[in-house]
Amino acid sequence: LHIAVLMGGWANEREVSLMSGNGVADALEANGHRVTRIDMDRDVALRLAETKPDVVFNALHGVPGEDGSVQGMLDLMGIAYTHSGLATSVIAIDKQLTKQALVPHGIPMPGGRIVAVEELHERDPMPRPYVLKPVNEGSSVGVAIVTDDSNCGNPIARDAAGPWQEFDQLLAEPFIRGRELTTAVIDDAGGSHALGVTELVIGDGFYDYEHKYTEGRTEHVCPAKIPPEIASLCEQYALRAHALLGCHGTSRTDFRWDDSQGEDGLFVLETNTQPGMTPLSLVPEQARAAGIGYGELVELIVMEAIR
Ligand code: DAL
Ligand code: MG
Repeated sequence: LHIAVLMGGWANEREVSLMSGNGVADALEANGHRVTRIDMDRDVALRLAETKPDVVFNALHGVPGEDGSVQGMLDLMGIAYTHSGLATSVIAIDKQLTKQALVPHGIPMPGGRIVAVEELHERDPMPRPYVLKPVNEGSSVGVAIVTDDSNCGNPIARDAAGPWQEFDQLLAEPFIRGRELTTAVIDDAGGSHALGVTELVIGDGFYDYEHKYTEGRTEHVCPAKIPPEIASLCEQYALRAHALLGCHGTSRTDFRWDDSQGEDGLFVLETNTQPGMTPLSLVPEQARAAGIGYGELVELIVMEAIR
């Protein structure tokens, strides 16, 4: 096949996407495909019209590669592409819309509230500790945990360093104490399959950008050492989220688990429709543990796009 791998772009996750995209492109070449690597700029439609690929592998993360924009462009151009479609992407990139889609169907998620940053400088939106995050970023870009010990003041001072200096509004969620878990789902001709649970063990701080992409900063325990009923719940929630949102190809659902609360302590944070494909990324790692190598995984994702 002639496969165009879309990567890069201008989102905050540009560097992550280049790592994902080049990893994917190398593997597709090794699998014998003809590959065109496209670092996305504003002329992407023109580049694709010239390239005329059989299929696009979407290795973009964040806006506009993960929010439906690129998906809509590819729909109009009549080019098949990997991962989720337009409507799913629009909802899943937005952490508040995702709650509205999943919570009524019995998926537990922390209650959230969109707050204008102006308001944060007047009062806390909820009791501390709480988490502030942009609604539509990935890789923990712009995430802050506000605790009683945070040195950002109370209420948050205007000159304190944090995401409130870069965004006009943020999503506030109660902070869930406990453990960080994640479950990948992949589709094949037989349906959707959950690939188990990985626990991210962090020595200090939280699973932020640096912990995600610096080798050795986070221990990945795969499969997670958690009770079987919690692992089974993670897989059920990940599969239900994948189906309810209408995800396609692959997705990865992230959790927090307060292990002092048993099953009631498990919360879905979000579902990622364009999960990372870098060497340190979780979906490739979980796939490997399930006996699916990286080359086979990218092949599966491409085959789902043209099936
Ligand atoms: N947003 C990053 C790439 C992830 O979900 O893996
Ligand atoms: Mg994410």
